[in-house]
Amino acid sequence: MDKLKVILSDAKKNILLSESSYDIKLISTKYLGRNGKINLLLQEIKKIDALERKEYGRKINQLKKQIEKLTSEKLTSLTQKEDENETVDVALPGKQYPHGSLHIVTLAIDEISHIFEKIGFIRMSYPEVEWEYFSFDALNMPPDHPARDDFETFFIDSKPHSKYGKMVLTPHTSSGQPREMMRLGQPPIRMINIAKTYRPNWDVSHAPMFHQFEGLCVDKKINISHLKGTISYFAKEFFGAKREIRLRPFHFQFTEPSFEVDITCGVCDGKGFIDDNKTKCKLCKSGWLELGGSGMVHPNVLMAGGIDPDEYTGWAFGFGVERVFMMKEGLNLDDLRILYSGDIRFLEQF
Ligand code: DAH
Repeated sequence: MDKLKVILSDAKKNILLSESSYDIKLISTKYLGRNGKINLLLQEIKKIDALERKEYGRKINQLKKQIEKLTSEKLTSLTQKEDENETVDVALPGKQYPHGSLHIVTLAIDEISHIFEKIGFIRMSYPEVEWEYFSFDALNMPPDHPARDDFETFFIDSKPHSKYGKMVLTPHTSSGQPREMMRLGQPPIRMINIAKTYRPNWDVSHAPMFHQFEGLCVDKKINISHLKGTISYFAKEFFGAKREIRLRPFHFQFTEPSFEVDITCGVCDGKGFIDDNKTKCKLCKSGWLELGGSGMVHPNVLMAGGIDPDEYTGWAFGFGVERVFMMKEGLNLDDLRILYSGDIRFLEQF
């Protein structure tokens, strides 16, 4: 019992003399820790006479409680003092926390929408899980068109609609064309649809989910020069003032006439050669790079959207977001799927 008294007075003295919360923590370990004095006392309980054992145990517990109380009171008062006395050195450099950033595709989408919003185009969204009708039929694509094959489009396993057919994951943003015509009911239409698109392809240059942006303009007396002017404006805003575009005849079901749009290569300035015409440009080989498809909206598409093709004409284009982004950055990715790998070492470079 004397030993307990000594321990208590010893502890009291130590606690009284402690000057910091750190000291208190050390004291607490010394007395209350796993190998602390209290536990040692408890281990010695076997040596005590059986009759006194109970009383001895009670006393140890009492001692333990006392020390706990004293240390915790002292800790509270010391921490309070330490908090009050804490000084801030404003000359020290601040802590740098890692911060996130927008994904490069999001950045590209923001830039593209801003460019078109500046000239009065409205950014719209349409269903990503879409009826076959809007993805194909309304776009003048016959039932046996190859794009409607299982190999080209993701079909949803659900009950077909009596009028709109099966459900698909939007294989292109063109479904926004009839959707927008039906939404507005009548021109003028100046719409930009930037959205996710899906096709069952998985290789170094294809991911099953990618993004497209679709422009649509319908009004009275709209002609090819408006299409060319708008795409040229986009090319200069997005890629740089020196870039030129050209329209190359092509075929799409939903436009007539249809064109592929090319843009002058940024590496050789559209010459096809670098080093004073001696070396062929590795990127384009010909001076031109392909941007995507475009054309004058087919009368059948206007009609499907409830618009009279004798009164109104329109143009449309559809380009790939990832594609234009990579062209702008001069990126030649070995595997395009890295864009969606979530690999921060790649993503944080932009
Ligand atoms: N929808 C086409 C595709 O995914 C791209 C396209 C071509 C869109 C011509 C258009 C267009 O609006 O006029 O390949």
